[in-house]
Amino acid sequence: MLEVKMYEFTPHGDARGELVSIEENKDVPFDIKRCYYMWNTTPGVRRGFHAHKQLEQVLLCVHGSCKIHLDNGTDTAEVLLDKPNVGLYIANDMWREMYDFTEDAVLMVLASTYYDESDYIRDYDAFLQYVRKEG
Ligand code: TYD
Repeated sequence: MLEVKMYEFTPHGDARGELVSIEENKDVPFDIKRCYYMWNTTPGVRRGFHAHKQLEQVLLCVHGSCKIHLDNGTDTAEVLLDKPNVGLYIANDMWREMYDFTEDAVLMVLASTYYDESDYIRDYDAFLQYVRKEG
């Protein structure tokens, strides 16, 4: 069974609405070098299909919901993200796929490094070889 690490960020809600703040090395365990988000996802689409050698991330579905498939080469997990203040931590060496996006879903990602294509493993068999060699 793959152990999943979730972060629950404190919402600073009042009569005006909700607000969440996330600080690097305090609320998440890394420098936040990059933030990106995806929305308007085509219904039924599945994306991701890669792992990272170094990158750590926290994924938050800040609107709507989606699911994340995780695979460390041995075990898998399915995680529903449906709360704007709850994030999923994904360490390096973890295969991920994102799916079941609702039409209104906005998936935001906080990332520990700048975009670097050489950090990606985009082939599943290569990923299995990589983690088995490392382990
Ligand atoms: P891609 O890796 O295909 O997305 P996903 O993993 O969600 O399937 O990224 C889509 C495009 O966006 C691709 O052309 C690379 C580009 N991109 C950046 O330029 N910077 C980034 O930080 C990310 C995540 C992607």
